Amino acid sequence: MINDFSQRLIVQEVAPRDGLQIEPQWVETADKIALIDQLSLAGFSRIEAGSFVSPKAIPALRDGDEVFRGIQRQPGVIYVALIPNLKGAERAIAAGADELNLVMSASQTHNLANMRMRCEQSLAAFGDVVSLARGTTLSLNASIATTFGCPFEGKISEDRVMQIVDAYQELGVDGISLADTTGMANPRQVYQLVQRVLSQVPASRLTLHFHNTRGLGLSNVLAAYEAGARRFDASLGGLGGCPFAPGASGNICTEDLVNLCEEMGIATGIDLPHLLAMSRRLPTLLGHEMPGQVAKAGRNCDLHPAPDDVMNLL
Ligand code: COA
Ligand code: ZN
Repeated sequence: MINDFSQRLIVQEVAPRDGLQIEPQWVETADKIALIDQLSLAGFSRIEAGSFVSPKAIPALRDGDEVFRGIQRQPGVIYVALIPNLKGAERAIAAGADELNLVMSASQTHNLANMRMRCEQSLAAFGDVVSLARGTTLSLNASIATTFGCPFEGKISEDRVMQIVDAYQELGVDGISLADTTGMANPRQVYQLVQRVLSQVPASRLTLHFHNTRGLGLSNVLAAYEAGARRFDASLGGLGGCPFAPGASGNICTEDLVNLCEEMGIATGIDLPHLLAMSRRLPTLLGHEMPGQVAKAGRNCDLHPAPDDVMNLL
């Protein structure tokens, strides 16, 4: 059981990228900018604000350039852009991203479905991105999608993940993310793998990215936290999913994660009432209900008046 709550848990908000990339309804550029600007006031130190991928692959985020140029940057917030290749890196740098998130899957099949490339081609492209970033202030994070299982290939071995961690370290990236793209991870698996990765990568450079596809998202967060992980991706309202993974569904929900941390006494620095107010506006923006639960139930401390007949008995 977790016995050290003293260490802050860092939440990277990914709704503007992972959240919006799968939304069928077009979200206006101004609305994306407003969403990011509001998130910037919630206390996050990191926001993944968009991606620079083929507009044919992800039409919902084709306006990444305008979005990055339009946001009001808050000091202390790192604005991250997901990229698949050198072209994406060049676009993201031109638009002013602070950090690039390079993504490749552990599974060859998912990488072909998602990136139309074999893993070796992705790694070669990342080498070019590292050269491009050398000598700039840009930081680089590299993600391993389908770390905990692939919807096409099934189980992914720990050794395969460690090979990619080594390859990323050799490239010289600043951070590594382990992504459970379609919610196939379980807490025991997470605990073991995170312990192993932390023997190679300091906790300050490791991020865990969970989806709640099978209801295990927050359990996996706790298992990873217990193993020593301190950085987690989460998405407002529980939005999100990869359009190139069958059955994909939302990320772990940011306000549910922050609520969990508050209840357990783990600091996040995030303003939960602000997030809840934002999350409650998402159905109007996107035209459907959100999977997140605390926005519907309220916080534990949001009490209700006792029924009249019970009041009479008090
Ligand atoms: N940004 C914008 N356009 C890009 C691009 C980028 N980063 N990379 C390639 N393109 C364009 C090319 O210029 C070319 O345009 P054209 O048809 O007008 O000439 C077209 O896309 C095809 O280029 P190609 O290199 O052959 O790409 P592809 O069709 O093999 O697709 C990717 C490869 C990586 C670009 C594409 O699969 C992709 O963007 N995947 C990302 C998917 C994603 O974001 N998933 C969720 C997040 S993990
Ligand atoms: Zn994801």
